[in-house]
Amino acid sequence: MSNPSLLILAGDGIGPEVMAEVKRVIDWYGTKRDMVFDVSEDLVGGCAYDKHGTPLHDDTMAKAQEVDAVLLGAVGGPQYDDLDFSLKPERGLLRLRKEMDLFSNLRPAQCFDALADFSSLKRDVVAGLDIMIVRELTSGVYFGEPRGIHTEGNERVGINTQRYTESEIARVARSAFELARRRSNKVCSMEKANVMESGVLWRQVVTEVHQKEYQDVELSHMYADAGAMQLCRWPKQFDVIVTDNLFGDLLSDAAAMLTGSLGMLPSASLGLPMANGRPKALYEPVHGSAPDIAGQGKANPIACILSFAMALRYSFDAGSEADRLEQAVERVLADGARTADLLGPEDGTPISTTVMGDRILAALDASL
Ligand code: IPM
Ligand code: MG
Repeated sequence: MSNPSLLILAGDGIGPEVMAEVKRVIDWYGTKRDMVFDVSEDLVGGCAYDKHGTPLHDDTMAKAQEVDAVLLGAVGGPQYDDLDFSLKPERGLLRLRKEMDLFSNLRPAQCFDALADFSSLKRDVVAGLDIMIVRELTSGVYFGEPRGIHTEGNERVGINTQRYTESEIARVARSAFELARRRSNKVCSMEKANVMESGVLWRQVVTEVHQKEYQDVELSHMYADAGAMQLCRWPKQFDVIVTDNLFGDLLSDAAAMLTGSLGMLPSASLGLPMANGRPKALYEPVHGSAPDIAGQGKANPIACILSFAMALRYSFDAGSEADRLEQAVERVLADGARTADLLGPEDGTPISTTVMGDRILAALDASL
């Protein structure tokens, strides 16, 4: 049998720096755990635009469709701000999500005990937090038509369309219910059914799927604005949150801060099973390209490393190896390892991206 294949798209800004640490972790699994991956690398985002004039070359898209999993760093940077919309770095990422049909985006927000005091919320509000946001990723206002900017009379009008079909809602709802069954068995669905027809349909379809297939799971509904408020007030009331593309984008950034830093949050974007039974999959940190600190060795590689742990769990059926990696991260944090994003102004000297990688590898070694 051939080795499982990975396509690494490190992208822009801090993407390559944090991905360099992930590559060391991948090598560690090859040499120490006999889990060898066939790794290839390519470009996405601004760096792809610089080389090819497009944020995602067709050949790269084709490769992404063939591998067992894609690992992505980050895309974007201020030098691309004035590009036409279709050429912006973000379009490369959105094309991958859309064409791979990665409809279920898992964004876990877990508060490591060592960071509970660093969250902007009080320790008892966040300590032990473990929630999962399931964000619909291939539809909604991100992709709906019509869209664009045109002129009506003597002024410009900007248009985007929120559009969801029943089947799009049903499939992401199912993936949330399935996940909940393996966790605390609770799903909260968030939309704005009070003002949006797409929200009314969302609530109806989630309720129908629940009635027909998942009555054993506890289901509740919340308007997304109230959901944002509840996430800050008492986040531990949630287990799995399922929501649309745009609300999921916002709510997951908010949830990230509960855990102490955006530099901590991994994600998995999953689609339908391929011929080999593995789901189409892309793994990426929730943080962006952070151009202000790029190239300085300041970035926190943990979100990207934890994204690889999610790959072990969801693509490669290696849950205990994923646990090993997550526990290694937990251990180095408990030992006080802190990149700059995990320190306040008076909190001492941060370690670099590479040193954080060193520490995590040492903790992996110690786990053997
Ligand atoms: C995210 C990001 C992306 C999004 C951007 C980079 C297109 O914010 O993954 O949360 O809006 O989906
Ligand atoms: Mg976002």
